[in-house]
Amino acid sequence: MEIIHVSAECYPVAKAGGLGDVVGALPKYQVASGHFAKVVMPMYRTKFLYNHEWELVHEGGQFIGGRYFNYAVIKEPTNVLGFDLYLIDINGLLDREKVYGYDDDTERFLAFQIAVCDWLSRWEHQPDVVHCHDHHTGFIPFLMQYAYAFSRLANIPTVFTIHNAQYQGQIGWDRINLLPPHDTWKWGLLDWNNAINPLASALRCAWRVTTVSPTYMNELRQSAAGLEALMNYEQGKCSGILNGIDSEVWNPETDPLLVKNYSTETVKEGKRRNKEELCSRFGLDPEKPLFVFIGRLVGEKAADILPEAIRQSIYEHNGMASFLILGSGETAVENSLETLKYQFAGYMNTFIGYNEALSHLMYAGADFLLMPSRVEPCGLNQLYALRYGTVPMVRNTGGLHDTVRDFGDWQGYGIRFNNAEVSDIVYSVGRALGLYHAQPDLLQWMRSYMMRLDFSWDASAGAYTSLYQQLRG
Ligand code: ADP
Ligand code: GLC
Repeated sequence: MEIIHVSAECYPVAKAGGLGDVVGALPKYQVASGHFAKVVMPMYRTKFLYNHEWELVHEGGQFIGGRYFNYAVIKEPTNVLGFDLYLIDINGLLDREKVYGYDDDTERFLAFQIAVCDWLSRWEHQPDVVHCHDHHTGFIPFLMQYAYAFSRLANIPTVFTIHNAQYQGQIGWDRINLLPPHDTWKWGLLDWNNAINPLASALRCAWRVTTVSPTYMNELRQSAAGLEALMNYEQGKCSGILNGIDSEVWNPETDPLLVKNYSTETVKEGKRRNKEELCSRFGLDPEKPLFVFIGRLVGEKAADILPEAIRQSIYEHNGMASFLILGSGETAVENSLETLKYQFAGYMNTFIGYNEALSHLMYAGADFLLMPSRVEPCGLNQLYALRYGTVPMVRNTGGLHDTVRDFGDWQGYGIRFNNAEVSDIVYSVGRALGLYHAQPDLLQWMRSYMMRLDFSWDASAGAYTSLYQQLRG
């Protein structure tokens, strides 16, 4: 099958979070199982762009809001990522350093989607499926069916994956003229609560909709940032497919970003060496268990309660634990973590920013990974932690519910708690300390057990194949 993934992110070209990881890995596994998987994404000014050669495949032009723009499609010719990678270059709009966060993001990603449809509509053949990811590609299923210029695409099946329903990309109806000429009788398919909503539109127009874990799909029927009714209405075409991880990139035996590689047999010594490196860099005591948090410092991840949870954990557990936080996000959270690191020097430290290499070292060197998320559609951090023998401590929600079992349960290997509250975190840190000090054999068994669990795409990619096949049938 020929599968076209359209996404705003793809690791290692450009990544802001888990979406990048998924789109950088799933196509690789699809190619390995005999399909032609291709990724189309915007051409940002990233290191990857400058470090690779590119071949021009197509040049074209289209309109956004009556304004003409030129675009070019370039391709990485050596297949270095294991699948065909195409970048859409739109001068002045997409070619910036960051993926998101500009005032004109609406125009940027809409122009991207229009260019993708324009290019696809000029192909001599048709792909088997167009698979779109998150709201930055949410207009595509509508445009493929109802934009006059792209009518050749109307019969190509579309799949839309919701990685995060909190972000919907709504715009006011006063901006409808940004869309290319289309069937205005279909405006109901764009509207949600009197706004143009690309996520809602994709839910209605895509042939199939998936979320990145089964539990998140169920949760969205009750709580979906305003889209609950639509999720219920469309549930016949919706399903939850658990994300996998790229087990080549995330492999403690070969990961070049660790100071010491290790396997299930050598996990104890391997972890120890990576932990020593981390502790010496961040002024922490390697004799104490190390708790880390890696991620966006936002409410969804419950990052706002982290500073207080860390403060109370240090007091209540007599400074027996060390904490290290890697992330960036809301200024208030960043500031309180920065303050805390001076108050509790030697017990906690923070790295504000994005640092891929440090994240690998932390998954390897930590004893416990904290994820108190209020919302977690799938979550990849806990899967990386499992692969590196680090005990995930997660709130029982979304994909965390689907992937982590509490060590108090049969064959459990993690720590689960129910509320994104300081008291739940402090209590769980206490359980973790008990495990670390009083049950070292159990901890050792858990580490090698979790490292053997298979959360790679080998296990999940097949579910997408079956879905595509249903559509072609
Ligand atoms: P989300 O996509 O909601 O942010 P996920 O758990 O799916 O959450 O994926 C987050 C990904 O981003 C993981 O690969 C994680 O290691 C990475 N990540 C998040 N914040 C940082 C950071 N500050 N530095 C390095 N990697 C980070
Ligand atoms: C989103 C979700 C996260 C998920 C990721 C990849 O960013 O917040 O839970 O793992 O997408 O699907």
